Amino acid sequence: MPNHPAWPLNVPGIAYGGDYNPEQWPLDVQLQDIELMREAGVNLVSVAIFSWAQLEPREGEYDFAWLDDVLDRLHAGGIQVALATATASPPPWLTRKHPEILPRTADGTVLGQGARQSYAVSSPVFRRYAVAMTRRMAERYRDHPALAVWHIDNELGCHVPHDYSDNAEVAFRNWLQERYASIDDLNAAWGTTFWSQRYDSFEEILPPRAAPTFVNPTQQLDFARFSSDEQLAHYRALRDALREITPQVPTTTNFMMSLPDNKWVDYFSWSADMDVVANDHYLIAADREAHIGLAFSADLSRGVAGGAPWILMEHSTSAVNWQPRNRAKGPGQMLRNSLAHLARGADAIMFFQWRQSLAGAEKYHSAMVPHAGRDTDVWRNTVELGRRLKALAPVKGSRVTADVALVFDYPSWWGAELDGHPTDALSYPQEVLRWYRALWQRDITVDIVPAQADPTGYRAVFAPMLYSVTDQDAARLTAAAQAGAHVVITFFSGIVDEFDHVRPGGYPGAFRDLLGVRTEEFHPLHEDEVLALDDGARADLWSEKTHLEGAKAVRTWAEGPLAGLPAVTRNTVGDGTAWYIATRPDSEATGSLVDQVLAEAGVAPVVADLPTGVEAVRRHAADGSSYLFVINHTDRGIDLAASGRDLLRDQDVIDTLHVPALDSTVIHER
Ligand code: GLA
Repeated sequence: MPNHPAWPLNVPGIAYGGDYNPEQWPLDVQLQDIELMREAGVNLVSVAIFSWAQLEPREGEYDFAWLDDVLDRLHAGGIQVALATATASPPPWLTRKHPEILPRTADGTVLGQGARQSYAVSSPVFRRYAVAMTRRMAERYRDHPALAVWHIDNELGCHVPHDYSDNAEVAFRNWLQERYASIDDLNAAWGTTFWSQRYDSFEEILPPRAAPTFVNPTQQLDFARFSSDEQLAHYRALRDALREITPQVPTTTNFMMSLPDNKWVDYFSWSADMDVVANDHYLIAADREAHIGLAFSADLSRGVAGGAPWILMEHSTSAVNWQPRNRAKGPGQMLRNSLAHLARGADAIMFFQWRQSLAGAEKYHSAMVPHAGRDTDVWRNTVELGRRLKALAPVKGSRVTADVALVFDYPSWWGAELDGHPTDALSYPQEVLRWYRALWQRDITVDIVPAQADPTGYRAVFAPMLYSVTDQDAARLTAAAQAGAHVVITFFSGIVDEFDHVRPGGYPGAFRDLLGVRTEEFHPLHEDEVLALDDGARADLWSEKTHLEGAKAVRTWAEGPLAGLPAVTRNTVGDGTAWYIATRPDSEATGSLVDQVLAEAGVAPVVADLPTGVEAVRRHAADGSSYLFVINHTDRGIDLAASGRDLLRDQDVIDTLHVPALDSTVIHER
């Protein structure tokens, strides 16, 4: 396969801009847009994401003239374009003519026209129209000098991650026939001897639509895998059309890698198909530690990109419009958010959207140019960010490195939270973020890696709630411990194989030998039940009747039905150590366990003794120099030991670096 460029073409320095929807505005505003973009230092905008109905107002009748003008004007202004395929929402004439392309929910509700993304991703009819539109776009703009990267569809699977329509039914069967050699294999994998579920042929199989009670768990998991694969198949179909016509132009689409939502696309399985990874991230306004979730999302983006630079395709300058209470960002918050993404490997900082809409469902969503115009903090911040990103151009291409890995596995998320489980209170993202948060608070840089990665070489590897693992994935974690790593595994891990069949002989099946423990029964705790451990720490949610089989108890239960039994254990394995956290200790106790692991593993923070609420991340350049990002989320200025060139203030720093309250600094260290 030819090598495709891995970055938008002809964008100097850090890319800066946002979604641009000029079709919502008269010409005079569009002309002003170019002036304002230049004032802010914008050099890349996403265009035509939702323009299908404008570009093809009636079937087969096209109106590209307005878009030609937009692209010409942007080019004349020195602004490059992430050009969309315009296929993210079908036009009304299409769903009227072909209502069979509409998606359906598990209970049979048809999701109609009137919002966006009202298409069944498995519909061959929709696919045909979407590919045809994509080809039109590629043929029209193949030689346009503003074309920097293709932006395929938009947030694939955002509103309709699972479609249960007749199209999905057919596609699901085809997918299953690829996965299983015969119906007998499928019956074995799905455990259909249970509840009289035996299938005699693939024709009998349906998507897991609404049913009287728990639907077969392996059927649910296969449907989740299928649904993620189906979105990828759609991406590939559009990408292949583009590559045929414009092989010199890179392709991407914007992922949604924020927790706790965005559960249903397994982005690690898309990595190999991406020329460049792009992510959208929005803060949850009610979360006072939303900057930690942001850091996770950015680290996950870098993980999915395999360490390569990635595009922050969307975030917000201020409030969004889709949370229960949409609060404006506080002083400096947008600038800190932007630099935090950059610190963790983004080389493009973009927003939804350029100019705040006057009509439509998103008119209360902030933008780079707000309703109130230029005399606003939002606009001043837009200009200030442009200035900063220009000063940070040398950072482009430098890389983040880490001594600690955290395993993140979408199928374990899907599996752990299925119905009919020991407790319905488990949340995979909560468990992952609990450990990530403790590491963030200690200023430890973390690589987020898939379960299929080889973790050898990391000093510490955290695998929270890694519910379903293959034998090979489990073996790699064991090998990493044997080679010297500290491997930390938490409750409800290694329980089932990839078909959701329990590994017998005691929990946590796949990791029993590595951890040197055997659990005979789970004891989930009642809501509001909090029990003491022997060191006085408290834990909730989960306990299990665990026996030591080689490991040593680090903490035991001080009370409750399991008093005296281990709650946290430690096992020596080859040159390394395997820790088992068989409950959910409170955040202080989680922190002290992390301290113990890091101390034993010899992992140091990026900057020693940072005050709480300050983050530091280092990017390393090919020439051996590095960029130290310090982001102060607190309302007090701080001083720390650092020397180099302060790129934002354009001055030398000798020994002591001052970072003002709610502000950030980037030091070039030579
Ligand atoms: C998503 C979409 C955008 C917009 C924003 C609003 O990220 O991709 O089109 O709707 O949400 O936050």
